Formats: sequence, structure tokens, C-alpha cells
Amino acid sequence: MRFLRICLLIVLLGSVIVFSVDAQNNSGKGLTIGFSQVGSESAWRLEFTRAIKVEAQERGINLLFLNAENSQKNQITALRSFINDHVDAIILAPVIETGWDQILHEAQDAGIPVVIIDRNVTADESLYLTRVSSDFVYEGRLAAVWLAQATAGKKCKIIELEGTVGSSAARDRQIGFNDVLKLFPDMQIIFSQSGDFIRQNGKKIMDSILKTEDPTEICAVWSHNDDMAIGAIQAIKDAGMKPGKDILIVSVDATPDIFKAMADGDANATIELSPYLGGPAFDAIIAHLQGEDIPKWIPVTGKIYFPDTAAAEYAKRQQ
Ligand code: AHR
Repeated sequence: MRFLRICLLIVLLGSVIVFSVDAQNNSGKGLTIGFSQVGSESAWRLEFTRAIKVEAQERGINLLFLNAENSQKNQITALRSFINDHVDAIILAPVIETGWDQILHEAQDAGIPVVIIDRNVTADESLYLTRVSSDFVYEGRLAAVWLAQATAGKKCKIIELEGTVGSSAARDRQIGFNDVLKLFPDMQIIFSQSGDFIRQNGKKIMDSILKTEDPTEICAVWSHNDDMAIGAIQAIKDAGMKPGKDILIVSVDATPDIFKAMADGDANATIELSPYLGGPAFDAIIAHLQGEDIPKWIPVTGKIYFPDTAAAEYAKRQQ
């Protein structure tokens, strides 16, 4: 009996020692983290997924990855399974902004910290540890400022390809773009439709606009991501026009395909959205487990790119 007690003590002490080693380990080695990803709708998303998996592997983190295929229901199920698995932390890339309160309460009650990554949630910030993301409003503003400067603020009829309805990425980019547009009354969005951040949808929407609107009247396409812009570029070419010249193209993400399009003269500007959000999210979780205070927002910045550096940027991204 005494022997058994000693064995039990050793096992218990062992796990305490292992836990404190994990908590003091800056790489996060040995942690199990559940990650609910939005889906695979865009090239940016695929790179984000690839990068976070590599980052986890290099750090020795056991990343439980679940792809939600753009469904909030799937994400809630995924989070519940992470909670049942008693993971050390959860990373949530939410497809839409609303509807997270209940599941975030469940994670909090289980003592599991949640990091919101990329898109935002409307839930009270006391329900999550931090959010790692870019500033989507700023991205929209930057796109509009560039367009205003490129057209000298003159008459410009704009087509807007929106991202997923209900996502903060779409909503905030729209708010930012429209903020700037208010200063230039001759610049107007004449048509706006959601293409769900999907390339083929960008093409379909643009195909139909070019049939219903007078194409020579369209000055620019403002696309909430590069993939939809690439689809629109194809539609403009199919209609016998020159994207990047007849119709200006500005979008967000800075993916390899848009650099290729800019190098070919088919697109005009892209605003970078870093897909390397996993590292800062892991760092925040580790720091929290080590008892540090974490700010509620960890911003990730990006810059605007133009055709002049596009060929070099494209080459860099092929390596
Ligand atoms: O939430 C970020 C957006 O989601 C990216 O801009 C888009 O490409 C993606 O799918």
C-alpha cells in the first residue's frame, strides 16, 4: 500500500514537473492546442493553414486542426470537442462575428484560454484571452485612398466584391473603404455583392455585371480579397477589356497570384494581410500560461504593394 502511494506521488509530482516545464518553455513544446479554421476558401487561407501547422510542428506543439468548411455550426462542434479533450488552449478563426457567447463561456468555465485569430467576434472580450489580427478597417481605407489618388478623386464608378456576409473582414473593410469614399462624392460604388472570398464567385459576379452594366462606365473593382479580384480579372479579359487599365483593380491579401497579375499589368494594388498569425497566437498562449498579462489585441500589420515590385515579390513567394 505504502509502495503504491509512493508510486502515485511520483506520478503526480511527475505531471506537475512536466506541466511547469511546459509553462516555462518558450516554444510551447508539449502543449496541445485546438485550432478551428474557417475553411479553405482562398489562397490566403491555405497559406495561413500551412504556416500555422509548420509553426506548431517546429515548436513541438500538438495542434489539433479542424477545418470548419465555412460553417459556424462546425466550429462550435469543434470547440466543444476541444473542451472535452481538455486541450491547453483553443485558437478560433471565426467565420462570422456573432453567436459565440455560449461556447466561449463553456471554454471559460473549463478554464481553457481562447485566442481569436484573424476575424473578430462580437462577444465580450472578457470571454477570450486576446485577438491576433490585422486592422480590416485600415485595409479598406488604404484601398480607397489609393483609388482616390489613382483617379485624382474624379468620377469613378466602382464595383465592390464583398467577402463573406457577417464576417468582420468583409464588414470592416467595407466600413473603411466607405469612410474615405465619403470625402470624394464623385467616386461611387454602383454595385456590391458578396462572393464569399471565393475566386470563381468573383468571376461569376463580374461576368454578370459586365453584361448588365455599361462596361465602359466602370472605373474600378474593389475586391475584399485577391482571389475574387483574380476571378474578376478573368471575366474582364473574357469580355475583351484590359483589367488594370480599362478597369482598375485593388484588393487585399498580397497572395502570389495577385503579384503575378500585377507583374502582367492586370491589377494595380494589393494590401497585405499577413498569413503568419500562428506564431503570435502561440506566443500569447505561452506567455499567459507563464502568468503574464496579455493585451486584448495583438495587431499584425501589412503594407500596400504596387506593380513596380510585383515581379520581385512574386519570385520571392515562389521560393
Ligand atoms: O478573414 C480574412 C479573409 O478571409 C482574407 O482576406 C480572405 O482571403 C479570407 O479568406
